[in-house]
Amino acid sequence: MLNKLFDLNGKVAIITGSSKGIGQNIAYAMAKQGAKVVLSSRNHDALDHLRQQFEHESLLAYSKVCHVGVEEELKELVEYTLDTCGRVDIVVNNAATNPKYCSLEDADLGLFDKMIQVNLKGPFTLSNFVFPYFKAQNSGNIINISSVEGIKPSKGLGLYSINKAALIALTRSQALEWGKYNIRSNAILPGLVKTKFSEVMWNDAKLATQWMGNIPLKRIATPEELMGLGIFLASDASSYCTGQCFVADGGYLVS
Ligand SMILES: NC(=O)c1ccc[n+]([C@@H]2O[C@H](COP(=O)([O-])OP(=O)(O)OC[C@H]3O[C@@H](n4cnc5c(N)ncnc54)[C@H](OP(=O)(O)O)[C@@H]3O)[C@@H](O)[C@H]2O)c1
Repeated sequence: MLNKLFDLNGKVAIITGSSKGIGQNIAYAMAKQGAKVVLSSRNHDALDHLRQQFEHESLLAYSKVCHVGVEEELKELVEYTLDTCGRVDIVVNNAATNPKYCSLEDADLGLFDKMIQVNLKGPFTLSNFVFPYFKAQNSGNIINISSVEGIKPSKGLGLYSINKAALIALTRSQALEWGKYNIRSNAILPGLVKTKFSEVMWNDAKLATQWMGNIPLKRIATPEELMGLGIFLASDASSYCTGQCFVADGGYLVS
């Protein structure tokens, strides 16, 4: 029984924003555990290249371009998954945007709308699109990639924090309303992870030192370090976990 705990054979997972960074690593980990993974982002060539890399390792990978801020593309992503893989079991709402670091008073409504569209409406809509299939098969698993910013905002990241806090609320509501259909929803809250997304934080030596001063483990995470939580939450290892936040932050929140 124990060696089946993290097994994802027979499962089909959609991972948004999986051409690089955390999404790519979670997709890779899930594929290694036996899942069929549908890689997705806005960049066709990056996806094609990555899918070929996965296939080279005999992993079951598919790819579909999808901008998570476009409702029609989210619908097509689900249709593509059902057509090619025959089912869907896991959705990882990972894609997000943070185009500008600024104070709340400098954030205009255009930026507000753009961020909500991608960071909140995207996960909300994609989850609602898969819901009827999850309900019909009496099982489903949603993993929302939030952030420590969702519970402890940093200066200059106010809008992003609002988005990530709302994503935690979405996770809890999904768990509450859909638990009766055996659908689980959990959030992963990474701290600072070395990816393109957070480059401004770690590329500047002064800023990076400042950040690391607040991290008990005294280092920034690599995206590979999110693999474990990804497969834990996607698998039976977490079968009684729902509506929760799983933090991987090197201790940042207790500092
Ligand atoms: N890095 C950190 O320190 C950190 C910390 C806490 C939480 N997070 C969260 O972790 C998640 C992944 O971030 P990351 O650090 O792995 O970033 P990343 O390396 O920059 O990767 C972001 C991914 O999302 C895709 N993407 C961006 N906008 C998209 C859109 N509108 N529609 C579809 N795909 C889109 C990108 O691909 P294309 O450009 O090809 O579309 C890429 O695959 C995000 O939700 C982020 O908020 C990151």
